[in-house]
Amino acid sequence: MSEQAKIQLPELEHESAIITGSEDEKAFDITKLRPNTGHITLDPGYGNTGACISDITFIDGEKGILRYRGYPIEQLAEQCKFTEICYLLLYGDLPTEEQQQQFSSRIKQEQNIHEDMKRFFDGFPITAHPMAILSAMITSLSAYHESTDISDIEKIDADIIRLLGRVKSFAAFSYRKSHGLPYIYPQQDLSYVENFLHMTFSDTQENYKTDPVLAEALNLLLILHADHEQNCSTSTVRMVGSSHANLYTTISAGIGALWGPLHGGANQRVIEMLEEIRDDGSDYKKYVNMAKDKNSDYKLFGFGHRVYKNYDPRAKVLSQVADRVLKALNVDDPLMEIAKNLEEVALNDEYFIARKLYPNVDFYSGIIYKAMGIPTNMFTVMFALGRLPGWLAHWREMILDPKSRINRPRQVYTGPTFRDVTQIKDR
Ligand code: SDX
Repeated sequence: MSEQAKIQLPELEHESAIITGSEDEKAFDITKLRPNTGHITLDPGYGNTGACISDITFIDGEKGILRYRGYPIEQLAEQCKFTEICYLLLYGDLPTEEQQQQFSSRIKQEQNIHEDMKRFFDGFPITAHPMAILSAMITSLSAYHESTDISDIEKIDADIIRLLGRVKSFAAFSYRKSHGLPYIYPQQDLSYVENFLHMTFSDTQENYKTDPVLAEALNLLLILHADHEQNCSTSTVRMVGSSHANLYTTISAGIGALWGPLHGGANQRVIEMLEEIRDDGSDYKKYVNMAKDKNSDYKLFGFGHRVYKNYDPRAKVLSQVADRVLKALNVDDPLMEIAKNLEEVALNDEYFIARKLYPNVDFYSGIIYKAMGIPTNMFTVMFALGRLPGWLAHWREMILDPKSRINRPRQVYTGPTFRDVTQIKDR
């Protein structure tokens, strides 16, 4: 018998079961609250509201823990290939060698985009943000492929694999287009990350040799970004997917949510912030003070998190990777020193300590992407490349759940009460 909670109202008492997760997280089951009490709960921003039960990712924000299907992110990042993590998030276990080989080759078969879709890139202005292009290209897949038959697991998994193959190509092609370069096609003998680097940076005149430093860094970056339970964009994917909209528009909705500067778009804003500080005499203390000033809405991008009230474990890894990559590539980026100084000042400042504001995943990632030669406006596309398997895994988990329903939150209405319409001449 599960534990029970009692909600005492003036005229009645409501009993609610307490649900306990595998990591001892507790939740009041309020599924019968409104019919039994006429009351709903109110939680703008959903800081206290669980939208679903999920087996995919666990975060302990107080302890700075992140695990995919029980595996700690630090071990996965150091020991796995990104496609192994895609398999893990989607199907619940790390693949055997044979499963990995089959899964990777199925993704490779889906890397090429329909030749007609290449013309879409010509329709975008050269200044188009790559997130706009990515969102449009993914939605456009629904013009080429019928909606997923969600009663057929084979078709669900085929559409998931198609997206894992295509999205990398869309990202690489949008880079090539924006730089006036010819498109480079994927090669069957390259891994997922090697192919992205090849399709993005190859020089058509000579045989491209993947730099192992870049391949290792990109593999790690994609793994660290692969999932993060019910963040804004994943919740958006679950929201849109709950209406049984086709998978392509559902993922495109996730792209839109991720683009926001409070979410995945922060990685681009971090670099812009660090460059602003650099150009302002590297006076990072001035910007820390601006972030503390309640009269300004200035924020230190890359700091703070709704769940982590401790150091984001991904930021910890990325800070070390940034040092490693810059050294290996012999890049001396003044932004790194500014970032480290910002972190040092913030972590010792009462304003940040009191609010438990630590560097998050977006704080160091841009420095690494920049060192790799990826343009700032592509950073959130890189985040999306990493997050894609997480979105797909959550969509799959929801679609396969026989108890899942369309998401339709309630509200508390505070507008005008009943009134009659008057003719415009009398208003
Ligand atoms: C991601 O959810 C996820 O898991 C997301 C993500 C993922 O993997 O999917 O981890 C990826 O989106 C990381 C976050 C990237 N965003 C940024 O770096 C943008 C800067 N950060 C803030 O906007 C903010 O911290 C959020 C959006 C991340 C969290 O917002 P919350 O939980 O709504 O917190 P809040 O805005 O209510 O802040 C609480 C207090 C406020 O001060 P008081 O009103 O209490 O005095 O902290 C302050 C805020 O002003 N604060 C900041 C700050 N972040 C919060 N002050 C200065 N700079 C900041 N960055």
